[in-house]
Amino acid sequence: MEQIRRTKVAAILRDTEYGKEVNVKGWVRTRRGNKFVNFIALNDGSSIHNLQIVADVPKFSEELIKRITTGSAISVTGVLAESSGSGQSVEVQATNIEVIGDCNADEYPLQPKKHSLEFLRDIAHLRFRTNIFGAITRVRHSMIFAVHKFFSEKGFYNIHTPIITASDAEGAGEMFRVTTLDVNNIPKTEDGIVDFSQDFFGKSTNLTVSGQLEGELAALAMSEIYTFGPTFRAENSNTARHLAEFWMIEPEMAFYDLDDNMDLAEEFTKYLLNYALDNCKEDLEFLSNRQQEEEKNKKAEDRSMELIEKLKFVVENDYVRLTYSEAIDILMNSKPHKKNKFQYPITGFGSDLQAEHERYLVEKHFKKPVILTDYPMSIKAFYMKQSDDGRTVRAMDVLFPQIGEIIGGSQREESYDKLLERMRVLDLPEKEMYWYLDTRRFGSVPHSGFGLGFERLMLFVSGMGNIRDVIPFPRTPKNAEF
Ligand code: 4AD
Ligand code: MG
Repeated sequence: MEQIRRTKVAAILRDTEYGKEVNVKGWVRTRRGNKFVNFIALNDGSSIHNLQIVADVPKFSEELIKRITTGSAISVTGVLAESSGSGQSVEVQATNIEVIGDCNADEYPLQPKKHSLEFLRDIAHLRFRTNIFGAITRVRHSMIFAVHKFFSEKGFYNIHTPIITASDAEGAGEMFRVTTLDVNNIPKTEDGIVDFSQDFFGKSTNLTVSGQLEGELAALAMSEIYTFGPTFRAENSNTARHLAEFWMIEPEMAFYDLDDNMDLAEEFTKYLLNYALDNCKEDLEFLSNRQQEEEKNKKAEDRSMELIEKLKFVVENDYVRLTYSEAIDILMNSKPHKKNKFQYPITGFGSDLQAEHERYLVEKHFKKPVILTDYPMSIKAFYMKQSDDGRTVRAMDVLFPQIGEIIGGSQREESYDKLLERMRVLDLPEKEMYWYLDTRRFGSVPHSGFGLGFERLMLFVSGMGNIRDVIPFPRTPKNAEF
């Protein structure tokens, strides 16, 4: 038989040329029916909707029909027809069916019923085949594409920054070591400390926590750049918002002050949400229904806004901008503070804000995304621009409902003397970081940048509750499966 070209399910579902012959390949979600006619729901990842295949049972061998089980891969040739069934506009009336890959239904972990998200995490190698993870995968792709589109249209250059590095950009000391030394027989110097001169790079190296420092080098020549790469943090945070390996988008812009930086962060996040609303409609509707289902068990006051409504709300409203000190005043006067309800009590200027405080500000007080600026110097990274007050830095965190911090950034300290002084106070290796300091010696300019956690964005866009469900293979403490 002459082979006709395969069409993807998404394209067939949009087609109205009834009567034409089509070929489609994919994985069977369900097969139901009787001894006269069977209905096969077929999915190939291109749409949240399955394509209905109608098979007149007597036309096919009994043995073939039996092999069409949930999870099996098939190729179907047939005629495109208008569907009379509810929930779909077209169907394919099969003339030929071939089983490409059998699937033993007794052993296949995915059954045509609702599985818990926890169970699906344990079978992450198969969860791409679920509606929920198909939707997440398509939305994730759209967001990656939109990130590049946004920056490219604005004249930013994408640069790749190193994944293996000898410097600790954030100074938080939560890094994964990279070494080829024999861990069972580590070479030591005469003083008894590890001799990294014998290691692969001749020095101690780690996986990067951020591409920012190298991004700054590029920005101070190319004007506006961005990185979008994997970042690694060995913090032992077993929360629904932390991963040990996550993807971060970091733009860095010469001649931008903190206000320009905030404007860009707001424009960027709104652009991404708008892009999702315009391009991921069916997947968002599915994800919204999923969330509504889940929230039925919650108390009314704990329920979040409907997903699409929530995205539109963020896109249509200005973010509130205020200083850290103003936020502390609000928190000190808040009900949960007065009633001792915060798990981490706020004591005043200098308190590090936790997710519970960020979410109070965003969800209860302002009911909008918030940008906090001018944090205490003591709780922020060494590179942030120091203010004249001597105790704050030109930092900004963008806080979102449900997520808390989604972006962290700042204007950078462009003064060589001030930067060096801060590095000395924090005991940073100024000799090894000569390359970073050099930018402040040779044509230094005011510049700014920020980092958007891609999976935090995905949590917000998808309405999912756990960051492990918005990345295919999550890396978290005690978990590096697949
Ligand atoms: O606030 P952070 O640590 O900022 C930086 O790394 C700066 N170098 C960015 C810059 O100015 N270029 O991290 C930025 C964002 C956070 O706001 C959060 O969204 C995300 O990265 N993030 C994480 N996402 C998932 N899991 C983790 N463990 C994360 N840690 C940070
Ligand atoms: Mg931060």
